[in-house]
Amino acid sequence: MTWEQTIECIRQDPAFADLVRDAYYESNLSANVERFRTGEEFKATISLIESIMPEATVVADIGSGNGMATLAWALSDYYVYSVEPDPSSTVGAGAIRRLLIDYNLHDKISVIESYGEDTSLPDELVDIVYIRQAMHHARDLERMMRECYRILRKGGVLLTARDHVIFDDNDKTLFLKAHPLHKYYGGENAYTETQYLDAITKAGFQDIKILRFYDSVINFFPLSEQDVSNMLKEKKNRIISSLRKRIGLLASFPLMQTFYLKYIKFDPSNVYNEKAVPGRLYTFIARKIV
Ligand SMILES: C[S@@+](CC[C@H](N)C(=O)[O-])C[C@H]1O[C@@H](n2cnc3c(N)ncnc32)[C@H](O)[C@@H]1O
Repeated sequence: MTWEQTIECIRQDPAFADLVRDAYYESNLSANVERFRTGEEFKATISLIESIMPEATVVADIGSGNGMATLAWALSDYYVYSVEPDPSSTVGAGAIRRLLIDYNLHDKISVIESYGEDTSLPDELVDIVYIRQAMHHARDLERMMRECYRILRKGGVLLTARDHVIFDDNDKTLFLKAHPLHKYYGGENAYTETQYLDAITKAGFQDIKILRFYDSVINFFPLSEQDVSNMLKEKKNRIISSLRKRIGLLASFPLMQTFYLKYIKFDPSNVYNEKAVPGRLYTFIARKIV
């Protein structure tokens, strides 16, 4: 099946309803746009960009899919070059063109049907290169990063959001096996952190920062900030309730709880164990400093 056929197929299957909603694959394209632009992930993305480059006004959204992020940037008053190789009107450039008409945003968006390795955009055109869940699809990662560097203005920012990271070949096999759609269209992919970093560095980028899975809602959405902070509380509650079964009311005293957590060497970092998340998503931020 192609990617488009896969999405059309899972839209009909109630078992995939959550995935379709959370991945913004609904057939109502403007509903995807509205949920994405008002969600925690995009708010965190915009506030990150505003903190690094408040003067930015022009974005290239590479591998822009059905365009929900392109529209979100344009509705936040950025000019967007939306680069997407798939012509499909369900999941690709055709869908973005439909949204452009629905929102009447012809003066804020250009759609370019190209690969990220060769966008055909002029040199030093944009302030921000944004790539959401698409860098890991690069046929040639180094070439894509060189292209991003070329189209960025001096001082511009590369923001690659939500790319699958694997630790080694074995971890990649586990990730592809666990991926809910890979078995249908076979197009999923992931690289190691070192492979991403090498490609970004070789292209000339500097000041590279990594947001690992639990560092930001940009990665862990559809979990919310609140969900992630509750994970620690819930784990502690489970430990205390098992203690209560053994020593009764004594377990309600905060001092006893602190003592017990120390005694069992409770380590909060084990709660946020990204190794338990197959193909955990990372975000990379880098700058073109010349
Ligand atoms: C998982 S989708 C992400 C789409 C969108 N950015 C989003 O967040 O919903 C990956 C997208 O990358 C596109 N893609 C695949 N290979 C690409 C490449 N070499 N350069 C640019 N985009 C690519 C696919 O056509 C697809 O639309």
